[in-house]
Amino acid sequence: MTRLVMVSNRVIDFNAAQQAGGVGVAIYNTLERHSGFWFGWDGRSDETGSPEPKSVTVGGHTTVTEALTEADYNEYYLGYSNSVLWPVFHNRLDLAQFEAGYYARYVEVNARFARHLAPLIQPDDVIWVHDYHLVPMAMELRKLGIDNPIGFFLHIPVGPAQALLAIPENQQIARALGAYDLIGLQTQSDVRNLIDFLQQSVYGRLLPSGRIRVFDSELEIGCFPVGIDPNDFAFGPGEEEALAANDQSEINRIIGIDRLDYTKGLPQKFKAYGKFLEEFPEYRRRIVLSQFAPPTRESVEAYADIKAELESLAGSINGRYGELDWVPINYIHRTIPRGELRDIYRTSRIGLVTPLLDGMNLVAKEYIASQDPKDPGVLILSKFAGSAEQLSDTLLVNPYDLNDIAQCLKLALDMPLSERRSRYDALIKIVRKHDADAWGRSYFAALVKAGHRRAGRSSKPLPEMGRALERLRDAPKKNTTERSPRANVGT
Ligand code: G6P
Repeated sequence: MTRLVMVSNRVIDFNAAQQAGGVGVAIYNTLERHSGFWFGWDGRSDETGSPEPKSVTVGGHTTVTEALTEADYNEYYLGYSNSVLWPVFHNRLDLAQFEAGYYARYVEVNARFARHLAPLIQPDDVIWVHDYHLVPMAMELRKLGIDNPIGFFLHIPVGPAQALLAIPENQQIARALGAYDLIGLQTQSDVRNLIDFLQQSVYGRLLPSGRIRVFDSELEIGCFPVGIDPNDFAFGPGEEEALAANDQSEINRIIGIDRLDYTKGLPQKFKAYGKFLEEFPEYRRRIVLSQFAPPTRESVEAYADIKAELESLAGSINGRYGELDWVPINYIHRTIPRGELRDIYRTSRIGLVTPLLDGMNLVAKEYIASQDPKDPGVLILSKFAGSAEQLSDTLLVNPYDLNDIAQCLKLALDMPLSERRSRYDALIKIVRKHDADAWGRSYFAALVKAGHRRAGRSSKPLPEMGRALERLRDAPKKNTTERSPRANVGT
């Protein structure tokens, strides 16, 4: 039987799935429909521990996870993944730490994950790797003789080729991408940028079939916009009435939910809100901006700067416009439990999602899915969020243009019910049609096809795979069994 093996840096705890967001939930939703397991980091990093995978099965779902050493955490996770690849792919070369020499450990951790994963793979498994932490994973698995279909999905945006070419190891990254059968991206613009990069970095050749040749491999690159499960945000009988009865507030809430990341455009959002209060004083006391900004990757310098900047901006706007009985910005520096999201979105008149660049941004879709069809709120969305390619019926803004955001806030607050409804009707159709299930199904089917095509092309193993297979055969048996948690994995 074909199993789906998901591989990602962050693996959510099935017991606490309700706490998770974004990528984790998308993977969780897809895995629920397949047999298989989820492999990755367990979220711990300790100085002495030798990372060994552990398998846990909860309610039929299996995760196989391992710790990172402190050095791995610093150089693979905080370092190469989040201080090189993350800023570059978000087109923030100014924040990239190229000179720190993190690359060797980035590859080393990928190679170790691959060594621990390989013994768990069965011949019919389909392997789906997620996100920028794990670009070399397919190459490392192939070296160990794994010939199964392996796909990669990048949840973050692909910045312009010029930015990616600035990575000193850009050719190694391009070559590693070539080891996948299928690369899935969020938008058409990401697809164009990646093809452009592969052409310039390693003379990738676009073939008439639409595939791209990178050295001796041919890979497919496609756009698969990630979705949510709208049922997670639907109201059951009686629930709406209870919520409406509790919500007697006269104040219109604008809701923002973003990790405290420099890509999310939070300072611009606060400044634009201040501008709005300045230009349209008649709205003061009638609105409040509630911004949840949970901390993230705090040891990376660029993240510490933004925390201080936001605190000072919120303080100065509240100090300038606030009254004894009205605080204009509610700035909450912690995670919001997933179970509370639906009610908060529903009781917010405006969803304000203004990242400077974002892979998809599922908050936008969650906000729409939570609205009351009879009296929906309005989503203001950055035109640089991946979701803007699908959600063109929102109010699209330039997140750098404070005036544009301020004007859109006014437009949203004044929007007549008929227009709110017609925009909502168009948007909810898209959110439902392109849901998490559709995303998982279409990517999985495309990956299986791409894997078959490759198998048809290469009946003989490539020379380096042959050598790796010999190495694996010659390796002392004890090593393999000691490392393998196979016995614990639900097969
Ligand atoms: C983004 C990335 C994910 C990542 C998440 C949280 O959505 O695409 O891969 O897991 O941020 O970041 P963290 O560093 O806490 O895993």
